[in-house]
Amino acid sequence: MKLTVENLTVMFKNRIILDNVSLQVEAGEIVAVVGPNGSGKSTLCTAIAGVSQNYGLSTVGRIRIGDKELSQLSIHERCALLGVIFQNSDNFLFSQYVEDELRFAPENLCVPRAEIETRIKEALDFTGISYLRHRKIQELSGGEKKLVSIASVLTMMSKFLIADEITSGVDEDRKVQIREILRKLAKDNIGILMISHNRNDIEIADRIYVLKDGKLHDRTD
Ligand SMILES: Nc1ncnc2c1ncn2[C@@H]1O[C@H](COP(=O)(O)OP(=O)(O)OP(=O)(O)O)[C@@H](O)[C@H]1O
Ligand SMILES: [Mg+2]
Repeated sequence: MKLTVENLTVMFKNRIILDNVSLQVEAGEIVAVVGPNGSGKSTLCTAIAGVSQNYGLSTVGRIRIGDKELSQLSIHERCALLGVIFQNSDNFLFSQYVEDELRFAPENLCVPRAEIETRIKEALDFTGISYLRHRKIQELSGGEKKLVSIASVLTMMSKFLIADEITSGVDEDRKVQIREILRKLAKDNIGILMISHNRNDIEIADRIYVLKDGKLHDRTD
């Protein structure tokens, strides 16, 4: 199975933010997108996630996973295929306790109760934050919140993952830990589109694209 973005153009009013972008991510592959501030990386994430209209952006193009067009899918079907960790996703944690945050997605996706508990435990183990399970989110540090936001997306067990700057704002040990998480997910055959500025992050990528002035290029070096 493959995530395919085909001829994606995103505009804000008359301004082109993404210009005819096409890319593919295979199952089990880590693909990195790099580029300067404002080049359109997060816009690419929101467009693939199908939420750019919420930000007043207009979008043309096809986004598919396998032979399924994402825009045609129910939210349940879409979550099973694609999980997105947005650049500032740790600002959008809204539950009181960590375990409630992790329960939210699978509960809304009608996952059976026992399975939800297993997923919560696994997501916490996977991200190395089991010790935070019963903590209040508002009392956590920024880096801890980041790991909670990663864990909460993992509970959906999506086949593909988009990760927008997930190592920013965390210490070196945690960056290493997060890279390790992404590697393990890829080994489990999850396809990952990773946005990052960090050189060490990019080292774990199988392929690298550069986004510049809204256009996507293969990195040639
Ligand atoms: N909802 C919006 N309305 C208007 N302009 C927008 C909107 N979203 C993004 N833009 C503009 O599109 C451009 C790309 O923004 P985007 O957030 O995608 O950049 P980025 O590559 O993720 O940058 P950074 O590295 O700083 O995270 C910027 O010039 C931004 O101002
Ligand atoms: Mg961004």
